Amino acid sequence: MKAIHSTPILLDLPLNDSWLDGPLPVSPTVPSGWTGLERVMPALVAQFCPWRGSALEFGCEYGYSTSVLAQLFSHVTAVDWFVGDEHSGVREDYYAIARSNLAHRANVTLVQEDYRRWIAHDDRQTYDLIHVDMLHDDETTYRAGLWAASHAPVILFHDTLAWPEVAPAVLRIAEKTGREFWNYPHCHGLGVLPEKAHEAYCKAAENLHGKFARFA
Ligand SMILES: C[S@@+](CC[C@H](N)C(=O)[O-])C[C@H]1O[C@@H](n2cnc3c(N)ncnc32)[C@H](O)[C@@H]1O
Repeated sequence: MKAIHSTPILLDLPLNDSWLDGPLPVSPTVPSGWTGLERVMPALVAQFCPWRGSALEFGCEYGYSTSVLAQLFSHVTAVDWFVGDEHSGVREDYYAIARSNLAHRANVTLVQEDYRRWIAHDDRQTYDLIHVDMLHDDETTYRAGLWAASHAPVILFHDTLAWPEVAPAVLRIAEKTGREFWNYPHCHGLGVLPEKAHEAYCKAAENLHGKFARFA
């Protein structure tokens, strides 16, 4: 299957709360490259995610993105080996710190595991969204992302602009799976790969709200 676009589609997201029934997600207070994305995630989720039951995350670190997702999805499973990596920095085990940071989020399950082991004991469960934010090399992005493509209708990839191997790997996944690759060009870049079956839903949302700009 071939992706419809050979370059990412620029994703413009409004920085406001008009997409929410409630307030914007609370910004977590831990350090993270994800800072700021909580302000556009409601719009992203409104555009791409008709179902907001379960989310899976590969790369939780201190819990920033996990906490934001937990405010938008009923349940979040976050998988991380909690020792860092050569891009974010190798550190002593910080699982206890992450668990403490997320203690008030009852809808989060933390799993301390190498994502390769997690996907090897594939439980055939599917999720409404999967977020990939680990080592930002080609191998990790492609392997985790391709697995995600058969387990969720919407995949997010952080750091599409910050690390050079991420966007090309995401584009290859898009080409292989026939998905579109949308890219939000702020906060280090956030790639979105929605399933094609969602197109009708996305178009309906665009028509209904008329607020999302789409550029080739
Ligand atoms: C960039 S940080 C994640 C940032 C986080 N999403 C946030 O919102 O701040 C990358 C994380 O991926 C984890 N990681 C890297 N390789 C991994 C692997 N093979 N399995 C599980 N976790 C991994 C690291 O331990 C680190 O916590």
